[in-house]
Amino acid sequence: MNIRILNSREDLNATAAAVIASLLLSKPQAMLGLATGSTPIGIYQHLADMYSKGQVSFARAYSVNLDEYVGLPPEHPQSYRSFMNEHLFQHIDIPISHTRVPDGNALDLAAECAAHEQAILDHGPVDLQLLGIGHNGHIGFNEPGHRLTGATHVVDLKESTRSANARFFGDIDAVPRQAVTMGVGTILKAKQIILVAFGSDKADIIKQALTGPVTTECPASLLQCHPNALILLDQKAGGGFN
Ligand code: F6R
Repeated sequence: MNIRILNSREDLNATAAAVIASLLLSKPQAMLGLATGSTPIGIYQHLADMYSKGQVSFARAYSVNLDEYVGLPPEHPQSYRSFMNEHLFQHIDIPISHTRVPDGNALDLAAECAAHEQAILDHGPVDLQLLGIGHNGHIGFNEPGHRLTGATHVVDLKESTRSANARFFGDIDAVPRQAVTMGVGTILKAKQIILVAFGSDKADIIKQALTGPVTTECPASLLQCHPNALILLDQKAGGGFN
């Protein structure tokens, strides 16, 4: 793992965006694994800005998203499909047909999980997977527990995750109880992983994930086993290393 602690959130966003842009310059048809949540928003703004200045193109790129809530139609304002459209896709030139966010509203969720894996096989492997980290160490929606699942699957969300995400829904009762998520096997197959974290509230879990034991009880700790993982932290999230 390569751990970099940057001076500011701005530096962190610019650094992550530069890595993604340079991948696309060398491999325009790259497959990007994308995340939602508050962490990547600034990175996506940087990428949109770089695109508007003609510094990067996504015209031949593919993307797959980590996860989606079960039971939300894609057009729901809190669906991760809506998030991706709003924060990235509508600002760049990626063909929407090249983007895949799991359909959490599919009638046959098992078939949808298989279709997500197949899309990665068809256009992948994922060249670069962007990750945030949950306060409990989850990556995607792979929640801590006695066991983890390798492939894309349906997961029951922990109450702690539902309450962390209630800020987007206004009311915890509106937060779905399940999600479709890439499994840890899917995530670890990416050629490169960038995990990004900022803020002092992430400092403890970052220290635990990166320096503690590799355990299913902290899914992000599995990144210690990845041969090409870049960890980008601001000073606060990296505070545990001082
Ligand atoms: C989002 C995702 C989650 C988030 C994590 C951190 O697609 O997979 O693992 O990355 O919950 O969320 P934020 O960035 O909101 O702190």
